[in-house]
Amino acid sequence: MKTILTGVKPTDLPHWGNYLGAMRPALDLAKAKDVKSALFIADYHALTTIHDPLIMKEMTYAVAATWVACGLDPQKAIIYRQSDVPETFELAWILSCFSSKGLMNRAHAYKAKVQANEEAGKSDLDFGVSMGLFTYPILMAADILLFSADEVPVGEDQIQHVEIARDIALRVNNTYGEILKLPKFVAQKNKTIVGLDGRKMSKSYNNHIPLFLESKKLRKMVMKIKTDSSPPEAPKDPSTSLIFDLYKEFATEEQIQDLRLSYEKGMAWGDAKQVLFELVDQKLSPMRIEFQKLMDDKSYLNQLLHEGSLKAREQGSQLLAQLRKAMGIGA
Ligand code: ADP
Ligand code: TRP
Repeated sequence: MKTILTGVKPTDLPHWGNYLGAMRPALDLAKAKDVKSALFIADYHALTTIHDPLIMKEMTYAVAATWVACGLDPQKAIIYRQSDVPETFELAWILSCFSSKGLMNRAHAYKAKVQANEEAGKSDLDFGVSMGLFTYPILMAADILLFSADEVPVGEDQIQHVEIARDIALRVNNTYGEILKLPKFVAQKNKTIVGLDGRKMSKSYNNHIPLFLESKKLRKMVMKIKTDSSPPEAPKDPSTSLIFDLYKEFATEEQIQDLRLSYEKGMAWGDAKQVLFELVDQKLSPMRIEFQKLMDDKSYLNQLLHEGSLKAREQGSQLLAQLRKAMGIGA
């Protein structure tokens, strides 16, 4: 049996990047017979940026509903709120005692913040850096190691965090023996989904397309995708077209070939966007309906999250007991 685990922060409504880069690959892996999976909502990670309680609560449900609407099978996969598994936070402390400060100094998110402060001419390079942000990779390591995950499907930007988890686990194991499983990341190379403005699709750049927008709004957003100024009849190069890249994510081989031909013959960008919109709208429509149903009545989600947290805690407490014993902590 192989265990996979991944989490998504409830910072906003999930977008195409989250779905195509992390959620869909994780759900695909979770379907295999010999795979046990934990797919969770990283609400305490979101606390590094989200301080509005209403947003935190609602977006936590939205991420849970997205997992379920996109095909999570609750009979097979465990879904839970990170905050409902307190063992995570005890493990995070233990791991912090085995994590050098230098390792955290090298983490991307922290480095980016320091660089931004430098560029803004701030005298305090740690301006705006909370300890939550600084030790973010340790909490993520706790999520992963508590569950003895073999594989962690993530987008490319999270690879470093999985490697840090591996580093920390090695240090603990060097001291106490092989207690923690060393995780591997699973990320498709060059699978970073690009947003409306040509940069990485991200909530922080506000260039993202939410996954479950209703048709009219979805069409409006798709029409905003950046293109060049070549005239409608000019042949277009699929390999440099964001519309084509996104289309490939949702289309069959045959549909991809058809659009390739239309590009070569010459097609207006507006028409290409319409083709993309129609395909995605049709593909996502059943999931969107399911998502809305779940969001309108949260009782099913509450029950799933509760059941999931019990299973996660059971597994987590076994690992913690083993670790406590090895460390000489407790009776
Ligand atoms: P955001 O960058 O929008 O805040 P998150 O940090 O919540 O997104 O990411 C959740 C998951 O989705 C992570 O595994 C991340 O790597 C993946 N992901 C986010 N944006 C993209 C993207 N543009 N392309 C591919 N994967 C992405
Ligand atoms: N840090 C991840 C993100 O920003 C979310 C996350 C938290 C996660 N804990 C995790 C992902 C454990 C994989 C495994 O997207």
